[in-house]
Amino acid sequence: MPRIAASVENVPHSRIRELAEIAMGMEGVLRLYFGESNLPTPDYIKQAAQKAMADGYTFYTENAGLPSLRRAIADYYRRMQGVELDPAREIVITASGVQALNVGIRCVLDPGDEALVLTPAWPNGSSIAMMANATAIQVPHPLCGERYRVDFEALENAVTPRTRMLLYTSPSNPLGWVATLEEQKALLDFARRHNLWLVADEVYDRLYYSGERPGEAVPSILKLATREDAVMVVHSFSKSYCMTGWRLGYLIARRDLAAKATQLNEFIVSHAPSFTQKAGETALADGEPELAAMLGRLKDNRDLCLDALAGMPGITVPKPDGAFYLFPRIEGLTDSFRFCKRLLEETRVGLAPGVAFGKGGEGSVRICYAAERSIVEEAMKRMRKFLS
Ligand SMILES: Cc1ncc(COP(=O)(O)O)c(C=O)c1O
Repeated sequence: MPRIAASVENVPHSRIRELAEIAMGMEGVLRLYFGESNLPTPDYIKQAAQKAMADGYTFYTENAGLPSLRRAIADYYRRMQGVELDPAREIVITASGVQALNVGIRCVLDPGDEALVLTPAWPNGSSIAMMANATAIQVPHPLCGERYRVDFEALENAVTPRTRMLLYTSPSNPLGWVATLEEQKALLDFARRHNLWLVADEVYDRLYYSGERPGEAVPSILKLATREDAVMVVHSFSKSYCMTGWRLGYLIARRDLAAKATQLNEFIVSHAPSFTQKAGETALADGEPELAAMLGRLKDNRDLCLDALAGMPGITVPKPDGAFYLFPRIEGLTDSFRFCKRLLEETRVGLAPGVAFGKGGEGSVRICYAAERSIVEEAMKRMRKFLS
């Protein structure tokens, strides 16, 4: 009988999905397992999509996305990051952050190559490397006191002649860790010395609580790298604008890679939906007030959860600087999937198991605190009861 390719068979299931699929068949679950809020996309973005449809944005667009959206992204980077980008040659619009990661990674890995991935991390980067018949070598972030760090010694030891890229996520899903300027410099230096592509997943850059000004974006690696560096930034509209279901993201990369990614787009989805791209322009232009309100809510939710977790037995959780996750370590926990399944069945609280996030993840659970406060508050109450 014809079989499914071994490279595909070997790609592991997402254990977040596995837990979510059990939860989706249940009533009354407090759903904190996915990286999204229960709040809908703001109306001004929905209206922009409706207008775009009425205006005729229902046809194919360029593989790299609408030139007007790429210009809007270049303007946004000038405004938010002080970085100059060439919208025609350094930006590729994709149908989601996942797709940006996918096409970017596919552009640098050949079968048998190796990709270094800083973990615990959202599993998709490692799985995409495996889909390219390559190997993901996971290097965990150690927790030093109150802060996660990058283990540069472990990174040096993990490099082999087949290593082609290093993927890191800042702000991190699930840790909320944000790379410092020194860490960014050292990551860039490491990639340059070893001739690697540096892939920076910056989809949470606007969910930042430790900036000097409220609403400030986490400084991008693009501020340090030159446009000739082998650097890629993966981005998405999902998190900053509550647009998870819209599937809109982008890749910023060195010109040769951006050109190849644009060409490959043709064979993957060709381009992101046309009216969605127009709505993305509106989000970038008019999104700041809603974003500021959302950040205020998220920070309150983060602090509420940190307070609640501080009162639970056997829990260690560093205060994160970004994203909308907490990743508490639970003393004595050796099977986080089983723990989350029991928590779900007995209390109807849905969390993501730490094991889903690769090396360094087992022993923890991920709480997404992006939902409305009342939901997060109730989930904490039930979790406290369950743990004690
Ligand atoms: C670290 C990270 N990168 C990328 C994405 C992709 O987001 P999307 O595909 O919804 O644009 C996610 C989504 O959870 C994420 O957590």
